[in-house]
Amino acid sequence: MKLILLGPPGAGKGTQSVELSKRYGLPHISTGDILRESVKAGAPLGVKAKTYMDKGELVPDEVVIGIVAERLKGSDTKKGFILDGFPRTVKQAAGLDKALKSILSGIDIVIYFQTSNKVAIERLTGRRVCKKCGFNYHVKNMPPKKDGVCDRCGASLYQRPDDNEATVLNRLKVYEEQTKPLVEYYAKQGILKTVSGDLGVADLFRVLSQMFSEAKLA
Ligand code: AP5
Repeated sequence: MKLILLGPPGAGKGTQSVELSKRYGLPHISTGDILRESVKAGAPLGVKAKTYMDKGELVPDEVVIGIVAERLKGSDTKKGFILDGFPRTVKQAAGLDKALKSILSGIDIVIYFQTSNKVAIERLTGRRVCKKCGFNYHVKNMPPKKDGVCDRCGASLYQRPDDNEATVLNRLKVYEEQTKPLVEYYAKQGILKTVSGDLGVADLFRVLSQMFSEAKLA
């Protein structure tokens, strides 16, 4: 199954990707995670990307398309993959189509997480992330057992620098202007399915699992 999760920041794409990756044994490819790893490593790509990420702007298309095209050549993508946070512009979607032509067949399904701004803002400003294993928590919706400490590995939690309210509002604006047109792009191809990103984690996972089984994708 070759899957794209599309939706605004805070829609729950990353959270569902982790669960779907476990359930279906597919690699979870998140451009946000790859870029944050580069920032952490102090790599030239990370230094450049950080200037965009901290402001909530998109990293240039050619940089991100190159990263994904390279990642899709990995041997673990033969059975399929979950793309989270990519593509984010029509140019990136065209870049993906081109990369898939030479590697694999096209995308099977694009899930659009239709999400209200109120929910997205509340989720993002309350998100906490594990410094070591990267697991996501939320101060109200998914709190760790011990305040500020990861249940899974015991490392401390931090707030992403782009999760402050001003940057979140800009990320939502950038999403509306540059990413939302992809809803129509994939609807025209007949591969778009819409779910409510406002649902709770478990309910949304149930809806997605049922959708894949009905579409005979899993
Ligand atoms: P990226 O890391 O992709 O961030 P994003 O799209 O802004 O997505 P988020 O991770 O914020 O939201 P999500 O939908 O994954 O929600 P999550 O599951 O984490 O990108 C960051 C930056 O990198 C971009 O701004 C850009 O600069 C750059 N970048 C990345 N990709 C790029 C690209 N392709 N092109 C150019 N630039 C790129 O959940 C959020 C919170 O809500 C968590 O706390 C979670 O616990 C909670 N939660 C999740 N689901 C639910 C639920 N159903 N109910 C209640 N709480 C929930």
